[in-house]
Amino acid sequence: MQTLNERTKLSNPKAINSLEKNSRDNYLYNREGPWPQPSPRDPKGEAPAVLRLPRQEKESWKKEIGKRYMKNMWTYWPKALKYSIKHKGLSKIDDLEFNDLLTKGVFSKFLSKGITPQKKKIFEAVFPFDYNKGDYYVIDLSLMSFTKPFEGIFASGTIILFEKIDNNLKAQFIYVDEYENDKIVNPSSESDLWEMAKVFAMQGAAYKLILSEHALLHFPFDCINAISKSSLPINSILLQLLLPHFEHTLVLNKVVLNSTASPVENNQKFPYSGFLGDGDGQRSLVACAYSGIDGNDNYNGYNYSKEIEKFDSPYYTFLLEYYKVIKNFVSNVVQIIDEEEMQLIAEWAKYINQWIPTFSNGEKIMNKETLIEEASMIIWDVSVAHSADHYSFAQIPSYLIPLRVRIDPKSVGNKLVNWKKGMKINDMFRYRMEREMFFKPTNVSTLHDTKYRFDKVRYSKETRTYLEELNTIFLNDLVQLENKLKSKEIPSYIPLKEIARSIQY
Ligand SMILES: [Fe+2]
Repeated sequence: MQTLNERTKLSNPKAINSLEKNSRDNYLYNREGPWPQPSPRDPKGEAPAVLRLPRQEKESWKKEIGKRYMKNMWTYWPKALKYSIKHKGLSKIDDLEFNDLLTKGVFSKFLSKGITPQKKKIFEAVFPFDYNKGDYYVIDLSLMSFTKPFEGIFASGTIILFEKIDNNLKAQFIYVDEYENDKIVNPSSESDLWEMAKVFAMQGAAYKLILSEHALLHFPFDCINAISKSSLPINSILLQLLLPHFEHTLVLNKVVLNSTASPVENNQKFPYSGFLGDGDGQRSLVACAYSGIDGNDNYNGYNYSKEIEKFDSPYYTFLLEYYKVIKNFVSNVVQIIDEEEMQLIAEWAKYINQWIPTFSNGEKIMNKETLIEEASMIIWDVSVAHSADHYSFAQIPSYLIPLRVRIDPKSVGNKLVNWKKGMKINDMFRYRMEREMFFKPTNVSTLHDTKYRFDKVRYSKETRTYLEELNTIFLNDLVQLENKLKSKEIPSYIPLKEIARSIQY
């Protein structure tokens, strides 16, 4: 990272105007901006929602994003159809690819180290070895038990137990909740039982990512987005630091959560509705992440945290490296903020804390280190973490992560699996339409060219120039980081130029 020693660090930041905190003109939308409220669908199971949105934001979303949905819907279908015909039926996944996809890429976020008492109970009957001595990991996809598949479509809760061997995680057992007899299978089990266990696990991984874990990157940040826009003056540094990272998101999230045309609702009259069943089932997966699952120690409910959750995979290392660069930039910017603005930031944090109780409160945020961590988490989450999820997911061939499976798990082991009938062309067609419109990243504005409007802050010309220099250094640091990661051979989970600066899809 380029340090500030190479330039003259600004020793005396100077505000030349007051924050004018009582002037409505100095707030976005004349201080009649958005604000959170309890989720109308599920006040306890979903994050607070922001429903009353400024006209300007709605218009901009329609122009930049809504239009694209319509275009995709009418023009992408020949490609979707071609892919669906080519990959007709249900595909098997080989063991090596299964292990790599679940433990090295975006799904590795689900890994938990060690065997908890609840998992021990499930697996102890088949444990041929002393699990205290080995290096074990679990991915728990039990949430699939909460889906409500349409007639003829199936899913099953699965739990995968991995062992670390020569630094690679290898799936040793899969627990398949819907299997009739032997619910725990391993690579030596009868072929269909093991092959289908992997298919149900990959299906579960897709749903856990799209509807459960990824939702946590989206929705809790709506509160922060709305409260920042409505409570921070336009000439404050914090608002200008965060604003580029709030573009398009409120409208997008409202549409996803509340529109009857939302892919989550899965209304079959829309060609992009590719999920396995009823909208309530999809929404219950969102609730699994927020409220947890009773009696399951891998689903303990969500608590907002300003710290990145650590997991053991190169995907984490990749995300962490970006976090460090963002934090360095945020840290230098926050140092400039004066006492008058800090008082206002305390109010900002107090408002957010009322909706997200684990967000630092008004008192704690007065420590600049805390403010740096909170602001870095916001920027990192909605840019790098969010885009990397979408990009990595879109890199995985759709036929390896099915959304619909037409093999009844209860029949597996009793009769031969008919792989050709395991997924219809129409199932894959809908999936590919949905992927193109909603899963695959389509950027409106990107992180690598973000220009913060520090020219609007109430500081001296020298201070504003300094803030603009920090902006330039930040963008250079991002480029340098990408080069550094390449030389270290850390997989590039998303090219820098593909990282959106806000949640836009
Ligand atoms: Fe997203």
